[in-house]
Amino acid sequence: MGAKKWTINDIPDLTDRIVVITGGNSGLGFETAKVIAKKGANLVLACRSESRGEAARIKILEETPEAKVVIIPIDLMDLSSIKSFAENFKQNYTQLHILINNAGIMTTPYGLTKDGFESQMGTNHLGHFALTGLLLDILTCTPNSRVVVVSSLAHMGWKISFKNTLFESANSYHPMRAYARSKLANLLFAYELQRKFEINGVNSIAVAAHPGASFTNLGRHREGKFMFQLFRPLIKKVLPTPKSGALSQLRAAVDKNVKSGEFYGPSGFLQLGGSPVLVKPRKTSSNPNDAQKLWSISEELTGVKYEFKKGG
Ligand SMILES: NC(=O)c1ccc[n+]([C@@H]2O[C@H](COP(=O)([O-])OP(=O)(O)OC[C@H]3O[C@@H](n4cnc5c(N)ncnc54)[C@H](OP(=O)(O)O)[C@@H]3O)[C@@H](O)[C@H]2O)c1
Repeated sequence: MGAKKWTINDIPDLTDRIVVITGGNSGLGFETAKVIAKKGANLVLACRSESRGEAARIKILEETPEAKVVIIPIDLMDLSSIKSFAENFKQNYTQLHILINNAGIMTTPYGLTKDGFESQMGTNHLGHFALTGLLLDILTCTPNSRVVVVSSLAHMGWKISFKNTLFESANSYHPMRAYARSKLANLLFAYELQRKFEINGVNSIAVAAHPGASFTNLGRHREGKFMFQLFRPLIKKVLPTPKSGALSQLRAAVDKNVKSGEFYGPSGFLQLGGSPVLVKPRKTSSNPNDAQKLWSISEELTGVKYEFKKGG
């Protein structure tokens, strides 16, 4: 007999837990938000568009009228907005139990964030690096808090390069490679954060997850492509739903048995869908030298320095 499948019925009551989800208004973030709200948590949707955030909040309330859900705006492509989010959050809350770094963009045309970072690395990795660092004090003073980093199978598809980390030469830019690199950076960050929590005796954990593949708004920059248009109905039909894709990050966020440094993904064919289980990342994502180098670069670029207080 196989092991029992993890489902949302395994999620404990989350009353009194404070949970932040970046990009909680769409796709996997929204599906995650609905479940977490239903379990009684105080939910903060960190969204770049207040109107899209409000629309999501209304839908959550339609499903769970007693849900405790607020929106705090954040634009991960703008360090000053990330700082405002952290200040706003700390003015309203004294604890943070679960931070889910979910928001992301994929295969966008070459572009820069407000601070001049290539936009996929800027949003998917550097924005979340800065956000987590700015929330570190509140995270580490919350017993058993956790940081969930949402990566992708795409992390397997490319190498980290410290020569051209941000595709400084725009003509070297390739949308899919830039996405893959940002998703590899997500994992390098999660593992280094876990090591730093451990070294500093911090009672918080860092966990990673990937959803497999789901039809969400993430593919919007591929939608104009002829092949995508041709196969769109089929792709939509065969891909797992966002509800099912969200299970890995949900498990990483709330399963009591999850340990620091674990990586969750779907159990099915090619890890594209299925119930969430422990999965193995590509070896390059747990290379401590690359992780430390990326960490130093990220601190330098964002100006956010992680200061760990021993044991707390
Ligand atoms: N779907 C998949 O098959 C798949 C596979 C592997 C990994 N993932 C990962 O799963 C995560 C969620 O993606 P999804 O599929 O749910 O895509 P989605 O439906 O497009 O949702 C992405 C969310 O991120 C938000 N976001 C984008 N840029 C932002 C910014 N600058 N500041 C703040 N929020 C921003 C979006 O806000 P707006 O609504 O305002 O645009 C949206 O809420 C991503 O990290 C993605 O890499 C997804």
